[in-house]
Amino acid sequence: RGMIIAVDGPSGSGKSSTARGVADRLGLRFLDTGATYRAVTWSAIEHGLDLDDTAAVAQRARELRLELSTDPLNQFVIADGTDVTAAIREPRISERVSKIATNLDVRKELIRRQREIIDEAQPSGGIVVEGRDIATVVATDAELKVLLTADQEARLARRGAELAVGSVTAEQLRDQIVRRDADDSTVADFQVASDGAVTIDSTDLSLEEVIDVISRLAKE
Ligand code: CDP
Repeated sequence: RGMIIAVDGPSGSGKSSTARGVADRLGLRFLDTGATYRAVTWSAIEHGLDLDDTAAVAQRARELRLELSTDPLNQFVIADGTDVTAAIREPRISERVSKIATNLDVRKELIRRQREIIDEAQPSGGIVVEGRDIATVVATDAELKVLLTADQEARLARRGAELAVGSVTAEQLRDQIVRRDADDSTVADFQVASDGAVTIDSTDLSLEEVIDVISRLAKE
């Protein structure tokens, strides 16, 4: 089979751009698992569900038709026939996604789908998978496991730069990320350090530098 590279890390650690860059550099497919949680959040809201109704939200996750592009240079997400690529990045989704991600039946369903996508990518050489629990749960057999960290100030600054065009203030953004970190910290699988994972602190590294380090490790 092809190679699996797991890239885990918190919001703003740069894991998305990094993982995409590594996939592009090495000619691998790319899977952003966060997008699956975001798409279910979008759909649950669209259907007017009470997000605290865990059974209803899990049912929605199972019924949702989800199409994710694994082309690192052309990412899109289609949910029940609607292109939600941009919509799932909106603050209203970011604010609610942790609630959906702590729903264990949602996780079960999305992890199943993520593994399907990973299997489908094997004939084309392999895949870089980005998320929070890839090395610990989704793909424990990954050839390379990277935990990407960055101190909180650097993470807030990166997120701020990404969202500079949006309507959120720096203050609101800080609150949102600090709150999401706290919410995400209740998911047990995010706490566990994976066996054999390489930790890379990206605080003082450029995107290119982090991509270089991971690409080199992948070729070893
Ligand atoms: O880009 P950012 O790190 O801000 O978020 P993301 O990777 O799109 O993930 C959004 C949310 O989905 C996270 O805050 C987690 O609550 C959840 N998530 C998860 O539970 N498991 C994953 N493998 C990936 C994301």
